[in-house]
Amino acid sequence: MKIGIIGAGYIGRAIAKLAVGQGHEVMVSNSRGPHTLMSLVASIGCLTGSVEQAAAFGEVVLVAIPLKNYLAVPAAPLAGKVVLDANNYYPERDGNMTELDNHSITTSELLARHLDGARIVKAFNSIRVNDLERDGLPTGTPGRRALPISGDDARAKRQATALIDQFGFDVVDAGPLAEGWRFQRGRPMYCERFDAVGLQKALSDND
Ligand SMILES: NC(=O)c1ccc[n+]([C@@H]2O[C@H](COP(=O)([O-])OP(=O)(O)OC[C@H]3O[C@@H](n4cnc5c(N)ncnc54)[C@H](OP(=O)(O)O)[C@@H]3O)[C@@H](O)[C@H]2O)c1
Repeated sequence: MKIGIIGAGYIGRAIAKLAVGQGHEVMVSNSRGPHTLMSLVASIGCLTGSVEQAAAFGEVVLVAIPLKNYLAVPAAPLAGKVVLDANNYYPERDGNMTELDNHSITTSELLARHLDGARIVKAFNSIRVNDLERDGLPTGTPGRRALPISGDDARAKRQATALIDQFGFDVVDAGPLAEGWRFQRGRPMYCERFDAVGLQKALSDND
């Protein structure tokens, strides 16, 4: 599968490595342009491009950038595509956003509102990058770590689930994007390690 990645930081690079390792074609981008990403081509085995090129390239596109920059993500090339949203809200980094501070919207709904027509799945936000690189296990391993997702498009969630499984993790579907608050930053289970049963319970206990 072709995977575009917007954001070449810790998470973007970790997902790029995992995806290349599973035989996917990956194009990574950042805000400064592919000339700043030359080393990734050799070290990860991915392509690099502009944000618009990565968005157009991917059948699935990961967005992993500081949330404050979400309005810079181009909507047109992502319309109709599966977009994996790894972003979290850190006011000390992103500045205060009123709708997030008063909990009237989730971070992924904010991105979805901007990316009209994209099929957003909140994924990979609730695991630290070191754990993402280290905790993956083969399908069926007892106690395998599970990651939460949310989204409004069932087919997109199935595609996200298949990818996450390839990367070594079980998946627990927390429901529609509006339920993504359950595993946003600040919730008790955010970035904690659970198997699928434990994660399901932790998400429900959040009520
Ligand atoms: N690190 C973690 O453990 C972790 C875990 C889960 C989720 N997250 C979340 O995932 C997101 C990324 O985290 P990170 O740790 O990977 O961040 P990071 O290491 O600071 O990297 C951020 C990347 O985003 C790029 N970027 C910024 N604005 C952009 C834009 N408008 N268009 C394209 N690329 C842009 C930056 O490129 P330039 O340098 O060219 O600006 C940089 O490559 C954050 O929202 C974070 O909260 C992080």
